[in-house]
Formats: sequence, C-alpha cells, structure tokens
Amino acid sequence: MTLSLPIQHLRAMKQQARQGGGPERVKAQHEKGKLTARERIELLLDDGSFREMDHFVTHRAAEFGLGKNKPLGDGVVTGYGTIDERLVYVYAQDFTVMGGSLGRAHADKIVKIQEMALKNGAPLIGLNDSGGARIQEGVASLSGYADIFLRNTLSSGVIPQISCILGPCAGGAVYSPALTDFIIMTRDTSYMFVTGPEVVRSVMGEEVSFEELGGAAVHSQTSGVAHFAPDSEEEALYLVRTLLSFIPNNNMEDPPSTACQDDPLRTESRLDTIIPDNPGKPYDMHEVIQAIVDNGFFLEVQAHFAENIIVGFARMNGHSVGIVANQPAVLAGALDINASVKAARFVRFCDAFNIPLIILEDVPGFLPGVSQEHGGIIRHGAKLLYAFAEATVPKITVITRKAYGGAYDVMSCKNLRGDVNLAWPTAEIAVMGPEGAINILYRRELAQAEDPEALRAALLAEYREKFANPYVAASYGFIDDVIEPSQTRPLLINALEMLKNKRDENPPKKHGNIPL
Ligand code: HXC
Repeated sequence: MTLSLPIQHLRAMKQQARQGGGPERVKAQHEKGKLTARERIELLLDDGSFREMDHFVTHRAAEFGLGKNKPLGDGVVTGYGTIDERLVYVYAQDFTVMGGSLGRAHADKIVKIQEMALKNGAPLIGLNDSGGARIQEGVASLSGYADIFLRNTLSSGVIPQISCILGPCAGGAVYSPALTDFIIMTRDTSYMFVTGPEVVRSVMGEEVSFEELGGAAVHSQTSGVAHFAPDSEEEALYLVRTLLSFIPNNNMEDPPSTACQDDPLRTESRLDTIIPDNPGKPYDMHEVIQAIVDNGFFLEVQAHFAENIIVGFARMNGHSVGIVANQPAVLAGALDINASVKAARFVRFCDAFNIPLIILEDVPGFLPGVSQEHGGIIRHGAKLLYAFAEATVPKITVITRKAYGGAYDVMSCKNLRGDVNLAWPTAEIAVMGPEGAINILYRRELAQAEDPEALRAALLAEYREKFANPYVAASYGFIDDVIEPSQTRPLLINALEMLKNKRDENPPKKHGNIPL
C-alpha cells in the first residue's frame, strides 16, 4: 500500500530531524570518541521507551547567515521515557548541529521539558555537549540560559536533576549543571570552565590546556564540581541509571526499595577487631561500610574529592540510605573545608529526597591551620552543622572511635536531633584527644615535674580511662547504646525499621540562611 503524501511528508521530516548534522558531522563526532545525542538517549533509557518532542522546532534568527540554516530540532533532542520503568525527562544536546550551541528555540525546548518534569514529579536528566551560547543569537541566547537556570533552581529539592557532561560545557553554560544535584563528566572527552584557556592566557598570562583547566580529573579531584568521572559515555549513562535506583522520583515520594538478597541479621566478626589498638593508627572506613550494607554495594559520590570524608548511597534490607563517614585513613578523618562542603551538600540532598542517613564517625576534630582558618573553615564547617541540624530524615550515628570536640557535635550528635546514636566500645568521646587535653590542663605541673614523661603517662592513662570511652556519653543518654561492632548491620536495620514512620519538621519559614 502506498502511503498518502501527508504521511510521506511527515516521515521525511522526522527522518531529516533524526539525521542531526548529517553523516559527515556524525562521523566526526564518533571520531572524537563521542556518541550522538540519540545514541546516548537510547543507551540511557529502557529500550523503546523514548518519546521525542519538538522534532519540528526551528530557530527564528536571521543574522550572520542563520536565516539560511534552520535545522529541524535546533540542536537538542528532548522528550521523556523510562529508566527501570520509572518516568524520566531528558534533553540531549546535539553537537553535530551548530556545535550544540544554545539559541532561543533550543532553550525553549529544554525549558518545556524542565516544566513537564517539575509538574509531573519526575527526574530531569541533561546530556550536555555544546559550544555554549549561540553567538549569532546574542542576548536571546543568554535569556534562554537564564530561563533554564530559573527552572533548575525552582526544581531543586523537588525533583532530582542529573547532568552528564559529555563534551564542551563552557562559559555561563556551566551554571545549569552546577545548579543540579549531580554532575557526571566523562574522562578525556568533556570539560567545564567559566573562561577557557585562551582567555586565561590573555588575561592572566597562564598557559593551561583544556584538560588541565577543566577536565573530568580536575573537577572530580580538585574543584569538587563533578561527582563522578567515568571512563566512557556508556559508563556515564549506566551510572545515571544506578544513581536513580537509590532516589525517589520527587520529594513527595519515598526512595525505591528492592527485594534484599542479603541477610538483614548478618553479623560481621571482622568488625570486632577492625579498630587498631593504637588510637593513632588508621584503618579504612570503606571496609566498615562494605561490611554493613546490602551485598557490600556502595555507590560512592565524589570518591576522589575530600577523601577524608566518604559519602554515598547504599541499601539496608533493600531500602536506600545515604552514608556519611569520616575516613581515618586520610588526614586522620579530620574535617576540613572541602570535606564539610562535600558532606553538607550530600546531607541536604538526602534530606530533600527522604533518604535516611547513616553516619559512621571517627573524627579527631576540625583540621587546624592558617590556610583552613583563612579559607573560612568556620563558615564552611557551619554548613555541615546546619545540614545535619535541619535534616528531618531518620539519622542514625555509629561512633566507631574518635568523636572529639566540635566535630562530635557536627556529626549528627543526639542534640542535633540524632534519632539513634550508637557507639562501639572503642569510642572515645571527649572535648579533645588525651594529649591535647593533658597539655592544657597540666601545663604547669608538667613543666615543674621531676619526671615529666612519667607524669604525662600517668595523666594520659587517667584521662583515657575517664573520657576516652563511650560510657560517660552513654551515662548522660547522649549515646543510646554501646554495641558490639559485629552487630552493627542488624542493629542499623532494626533502627531504620523503627524509624520508618518518623515525622519531624522545622518551623515554617521562607527559607533558612545556611552559611554560604
Ligand atoms: C555558534 C558554534 C558555537 C557557538 C560552536 N559552534 N560553538 N556556533 N555559537 N557558541 C559551531 C562552530 O562554528 C562549528 O560550525 C560547529 O559548531 C562545530 O564547532 P567546531 O569549532 O568546529 O568544533 P570543535 O573544533 O570541536 O570545537 C568545539 C569548541 C569550539 C571548543 C566548543 O567550537 C568553540 O570554542 N566554540 C565557542 C565556545 C564559546 O566560547 N562559547 C561561548 C561560551 S560563553 P561549522 O558550521 O563551522 O561546522 C557562553 C555564555 C553563556 O556560553 C552565558 C549564560 C549566562
């Protein structure tokens, strides 16, 4: 049967839209090790679930020859589909069409998807690969970015927003991803910067490559801008699916849960001996996390930035949890500026999306030093304090070893509305570590003593016995129970179960004023 002319025309138009910038540009895209927008969407979503919208949108600009070049779709593929059968909205910039540059019509397509995602309470995923503001469209293009930024901001805390950076992302364009919850950057093929190497050279006289200035390695290790830096686009897109498996579709829903294949009553005898006899010796907190979570599976977020604190998602008896853990193997687990900011943002994400928090604590305090003080550790440390204090999701803390000073308070102590606060028998809860305390309390006595070292040893032993244990805190009720480390998993699962109907709220307000 021959197709009617209108249907032939429709099919031809859609076929044209699907071709993007044409075979030559698609080939060039592949040669750079990058996929096309549609290939990416296909990998991201459940098979056959994508419904594209706005195939026929074209720009209305005429300047600089644009009037003669009106590609269908205007360089961005938008629509909706499913991931593990859950609705998501997606936009994917098409670098093969005018370098994926963003003009007014391109922005309008993204805005439409953003508004639908917000209205229908489903995650928004952006696949970014763009030369930035379309130069020929001038301020119309800048207004488009502002419209996107506004929707990113209004959607924040209502629906999850995930940005994959799979090519260039430069200038003000970086601020849309920066406003979203997670940034995933592919290694070697993506970069993000506000001003590129050329401007850096002419203004600052500094020579720097694209990769050195804003590659995935820099942003996942040094700046903390990126949360994940996978090796390939396939990995990046799979990561989006994994990440979403821990997160609800919106702030009114509970996170998805799965059937648990791991015994909720499983005990781990290796935890009974994981804390070294010498309190100055490190151990790897990852081992503790792996021992307690379902099947040892932990999706670490910002794994290579501020490694003195560990944050990420796991499941306990099939239910999503966010884990925040000091890492004694890096900087002795001390809290510094980067660690505070990293953890605060994670805590606020979990709180916004109803994901209970498990805190594993071994912290000797805030990192001392001029650079930390001058860098504003007071202001940045306050972020983490604020985040834990305002969080109303279930909060369960386990102190494995040190919980000293202000850091004890910060790490979700009982008085910040911690719901269940547990300690291992190896916990040391005090205003400061024994050495510092003895030096301050007994400075004069030590200076005058005939045998200062013997006196110091005796005083240290006394201090340890009195304060470097969990029982003083437990006697005040600041610790709900002292537990055997091997029992940690079943007891955490028990506490989560007990807290599953927790209701708590903060006083009504327009918004708080978190120290920024
Ligand atoms: C219009 C653009 C474009 C742009 C690229 N193209 N960027 N067209 N506006 N911003 C076009 C190119 O002219 C070219 O078209 C095609 O896309 C592919 O680009 P190439 O340069 O050939 O690709 P490549 O060599 O891979 O280089 C990619 C690039 C480079 C590094 C991204 O194109 C580039 O530097 N673009 C400009 C980046 C930039 O400064 N953008 C503005 C950032 S400021 P033809 O037809 O020749 O193939 C910004 C402000 C946002 O975005 C503000 C928000 C508040």
